[in-house]
Amino acid sequence: RGRAASGAGTWTFDPVAPNRADQVTVPPGFTADLLIAWGDPVTRDAVRFDVRRQTARAARTQFGYNNDYVGLVPHPARRDRALLVVNHEYTDEPLMFPAGTHTPEEVLEVAIANHGMSVVEVQQGRRPGQWSVVSPRAARYNRRLHDRTTFEVTGPAAGDPRLRTTADPTGRRVLGTFNNCAGGTTPWGTVLSGEENFNQYFDGEVPAGRRESFARYGISGQGRGWSQVDERFDLAQEPNEPYRFGWVVEVDPLDPRSTPRKHSMLGRFKHEGANVTVARSGHVVAYMGDDERGDYLYRFVSRDRFDPRRSTRARRHNLTLLSAGTLSVARLTGDGTEDGRHDGTGEWIRLADWRRSYVPGMSLADVLIDTRLAADRVSPTRMDRPEDVEVNPVNGRVYVALTNNSQRGTALPADEANPVTRSMVRSSLDAPLTPASGNRNGYVLEMMPRRGDHTASDFTWDLMLVCGDPHAQETWFAGFPKQLVSPISCPDNVAFDAVGNLWVSTDGNALGSNDGLFRVPVDGPRRGQVHQFLTVPLGAETCGPFVTADQQAVLIAVQHPGEVDGASFEAPASTWPHTHAWPRPGVVVVRRA
Ligand code: FEO
Ligand code: CA
Ligand code: CA
Ligand code: CA
Repeated sequence: RGRAASGAGTWTFDPVAPNRADQVTVPPGFTADLLIAWGDPVTRDAVRFDVRRQTARAARTQFGYNNDYVGLVPHPARRDRALLVVNHEYTDEPLMFPAGTHTPEEVLEVAIANHGMSVVEVQQGRRPGQWSVVSPRAARYNRRLHDRTTFEVTGPAAGDPRLRTTADPTGRRVLGTFNNCAGGTTPWGTVLSGEENFNQYFDGEVPAGRRESFARYGISGQGRGWSQVDERFDLAQEPNEPYRFGWVVEVDPLDPRSTPRKHSMLGRFKHEGANVTVARSGHVVAYMGDDERGDYLYRFVSRDRFDPRRSTRARRHNLTLLSAGTLSVARLTGDGTEDGRHDGTGEWIRLADWRRSYVPGMSLADVLIDTRLAADRVSPTRMDRPEDVEVNPVNGRVYVALTNNSQRGTALPADEANPVTRSMVRSSLDAPLTPASGNRNGYVLEMMPRRGDHTASDFTWDLMLVCGDPHAQETWFAGFPKQLVSPISCPDNVAFDAVGNLWVSTDGNALGSNDGLFRVPVDGPRRGQVHQFLTVPLGAETCGPFVTADQQAVLIAVQHPGEVDGASFEAPASTWPHTHAWPRPGVVVVRRA
C-alpha cells in the first residue's frame, strides 16, 4: 500500500496538449520506452525478421502485427519477471510490405500468420517501472498463438452441427483466433481475449439458409481474399467456419502447452473483450461489449463459485468457471432529463443459462451461436459501440467505454443513455469546432449494481463523461469545471490504478489530435477531472492500457502507427518507433524518469 500511495494513481503531471507529433508524448518528468514491436522474436526458435523476406512460418515465431490488449500476469517462479500477454488484432498490408517483394499469395499468408496472440517473459529493471524483454532462449513461457494453433470449444454450443467443418467433424477444435481486440486478466491468472471483427475474413457467396444469421454479423462474403490461400475461409467450401469465430478466448500463460479455449457460454458476437470480477457470493461475473453501432452490453455470471485457494486443484476448478453460467443483455431506462443528468435504472435480461434458452423460439445453442439475433428479441438498449467494460476494484462500479456512433439521431433514435445526436468536431488542430451529426466523441458510462452485487438483476447508471472538447456545449465531465479538463474523444479501452482512478485510451480522435491516454478520478472532489497523460504517434490508436501491480509503470500498445489514407510502406505517414524508415506497432512502458 505504501508503494501504491506513491504510484500511478498519485502521479502529478502536466497534462499533455493535443498534438500531431510522430512520437509517444509524455509529460515532463516521465519517459516512454519501447518494450517490444512487430517482428521481434517470441519463440525460442524465432526466425530473424527481414521485412523484404517475410514468411508465414517466420511470422508464427515473431511478435505479430497491431498489438491491442496488453496484460501482465505474475511469473509463477520469479518476482522480478512477468508474462506479457498481447493480442495481434489485424494487419495493414500496404504498410507491412515493400512494393514488389512478395507475391499476392505470400502477402495473404504472412498477413494471416501475423494475427493471434503473444506471450512474452519480461523482466523488471533496476529503476522502478523499468521493464525489458527476456531473451526468448532464456524464457520458459514464451508462446505465439496463431492460425495453426488449436483451440478447444467449451460450453453448451461445443460440437453443435453449425460448428462442424471438413477439418473438424467434432465441432470442438478450431484452428486460430482472429481479430482479437481487448481482453482481461482473470483472478486465476489466465487472459481473456475477444474475437471482434472476424466477419471480414470470409469470401464467397453466403449460403441461402444463412442469410439472416450472417447479415446480422456483417458476414457478406466480401472478404480480404484469405480463401485464396486457405479454403476454410471460402463460404462455398466451409459455410460453418464463421461460426467458429466471434467468441471469448481464454489462454493460460502459466502453461505454455495448454490448449487455449473458446467459451461458447459467453455468447458469440463482435466481442471487444471480457473482464472478470468475483462477486461477493463467489460467483464470477464477466462484463462484455459488442462493438458495433447500436449493439449491446452483456454479462455472464458463472454457475459455480471461484476457489481462492492457491492449490493446483483450485486452479483446475477455476479454469472451468467460464464454461457454465447465465448470459444476459442490458436494458437501460432513463429517469428523465429534468434532473440535469443522463442517468437511470437498468436490468439484465436473461438470454440463456447452461441448461436452457430463455428466448422463445430459439434453442440454447441458437442463443449462444446467434447471440445478436437472440438479444434482438428481448429489446435491450442499442448502445453507441460498447467497447471495454471493466469493474473498478476500488469502488466496485462498472465502467463502459462507448466509442462513438455517427448514426445516433438518424438511423438510431436518441435515448437518455445515448443522448448526443449532434457533436462538435474539429478537422485539424487549428480548425474551429464545427457541428457534425451523431455522437462523434463518445461516452464513459458508469453502472452501479444493486447493493454492489454483480450478480443482481438490476443496476443504476450514470453517463459520467460525455466526451469532446470542453468548449462544446454537449460535453459533461461528471460536473467538474470544464476549463480544468483535457479534451477527450472516442474512449476505447479502460484500466484502473490502485487508488481507483480510471485510465482511458482513445481510438479515432475527432478533435484533430492524435489519440492518447487519460487519467480520470471517479470519486472525491476531483471526480471527472480528465487529464491527458500521453499521446501516441500519427495514425495510431492507443490500446492496452495496463497499470502494473506495483503502480510504477503504465503500459500501452501503439496500434497501427501511420494508418492514414494513402500511406504506404514507401510513403509512410509515421516512422514510429523510428527503428526503421517504416512504422512498427509496439508496446511501450511509461514510467517516472
Ligand atoms: Fe478493435 Fe472495438 O476495437
Ligand atoms: Ca436523468
Ligand atoms: Ca478496442
Ligand atoms: Ca479500437
